[in-house]
Parts: sequence; C-alpha cells; structure tokens
Amino acid sequence: MRIINTSDGSHTIYLPEMNEQYHSVNGAITESTYVYIDKGYNFHVSKNPTVFEVGFGTGLNCLLTALQAAQDKRPTIYITIEKYQLPKNITDQLNFGRLISEDARIVFDNIHACKWNEVVPISEYFNLFKINGDLIDINLTQFVNCDVIYFDAFGPDKQPEMWTPLIFRKIYSITSLKGVLVTYSAKGEVRRQLAACGFEMERLPGPPGKIQMLRGIK
Ligand SMILES: C[S@@+](CC[C@H](N)C(=O)[O-])C[C@H]1O[C@@H](n2cnc3c(N)ncnc32)[C@H](O)[C@@H]1O
Repeated sequence: MRIINTSDGSHTIYLPEMNEQYHSVNGAITESTYVYIDKGYNFHVSKNPTVFEVGFGTGLNCLLTALQAAQDKRPTIYITIEKYQLPKNITDQLNFGRLISEDARIVFDNIHACKWNEVVPISEYFNLFKINGDLIDINLTQFVNCDVIYFDAFGPDKQPEMWTPLIFRKIYSITSLKGVLVTYSAKGEVRRQLAACGFEMERLPGPPGKIQMLRGIK
C-alpha cells in the first residue's frame, strides 16, 4: 500500500493490487465530510445517535464524526467494522488529525490506539466500538437500532461481495426506523438493491469529482 496526497492536501491510501484507494483523490477530508457528516450524521435528527460504519479503514470518518459530536455536544455511539486493520506505521503517518488541529491529532491517535472489540470512551461525547471482523459472515443482531449507516466499502466493481442483497438486508435489519444510510456510490444497481430491502432511496449531488451519491431512509 502507498500513502498518497489528495487535492485538498489530506492523505489517502492506494492499494496497487486492487487499483483502488480508500477515499476520493479529489480530497479525502472533503469527500468524507460531505458524504458522511453533512449528508448522513448531520441530517439525522437524533440527539444521541448510534452510527454504524462499514469499513473503519484509516479512521477518517470516525475522526470527523468524533469532532462533530464534540462540537455539537451530541453524545454518539460509533460502531465500525474492519476486516483488514492497517498497520500502525501507516496510520501514524496519516495527516488527517494534524491538518485539522492539535486537538484533532490527539483524537485521531486515541481512535487508533484504543482496543478493538470493546466500547471505549474517546471523549465526553463519543464512544467507539471497533469490531475486528468480516461483514460478510458476522452476526449483527446485537447492534440493533443504528441511526446512521456509513456504507464505505471498496467500490462495487472492486469488491462486489460487499454490495450484495444479503449484506444490504443485514444492514437494513440493524437500522432504526427513519435511520439514514449514506454511501459515495451512485450505481443504479446499488440504489435498486437498497430500495428492494426497504430503504427509500434518493440521489444527491456528489462530492467534488463525483456527480451523485446515494442516501436511503428506512
Ligand atoms: C473505502 S475503505 C474505508 C475507508 C474508511 N471508512 C476511512 O474513513 O478511511 C473500505 C474498507 O473496508 C474494509 N473491508 C474490506 N472487506 C471487508 C469485510 N469483508 N469486512 C469488513 N471490512 C472490510 C477495507 O479493509 C477498508 O478498510
């Protein structure tokens, strides 16, 4: 894997064997803020939401959510699943926290340093549960009533096994009524499959470099 710069100055990771990166090259922080924070986390009305993220990856979505939760004084539980943990020597180099502020740098370090598979308080307003597991075979029934879903798997063309009706049904079953799912993908097949599960789907303008993204409401 290689750390690369994106156009807003923030890093992302490029995987040559897959020819895929973790975020948009048009700005990692810009994309994550737009798709997941603005259109997902900030859109949901709950005063104390539970977020479920598919693919913890670099921890960028997690960092941005923790910062937003603190700013809004909005107690948040953040559950995230990751099959392939990034090595510490890679996450230590990522500039997300440093680019934002000294406080953000500390939060980013804590998000990475904390234990997996248990709930850890990161701040007064942010509890984190990092699951080291495989979304495909994990039983998610203990995580009911998630208000906001960040569906941030590698692209449907690169990892089609993460974008199946079976996975979408699993995600639907842990989403609360009126819960919101957001994803950077705008693929017609993804929209149709999510709609078939019961999500009311809409297309929204995408972040820089992408025409559209998807949002669904249960
Ligand atoms: C697009 S990246 C996620 C980026 C991440 N949300 C961030 O803020 O950096 C997709 C992530 O899904 C993870 N992943 C791939 N297959 C998985 C699986 N079967 N179960 C759980 N996570 C998986 C990858 O390792 C990768 O970290």
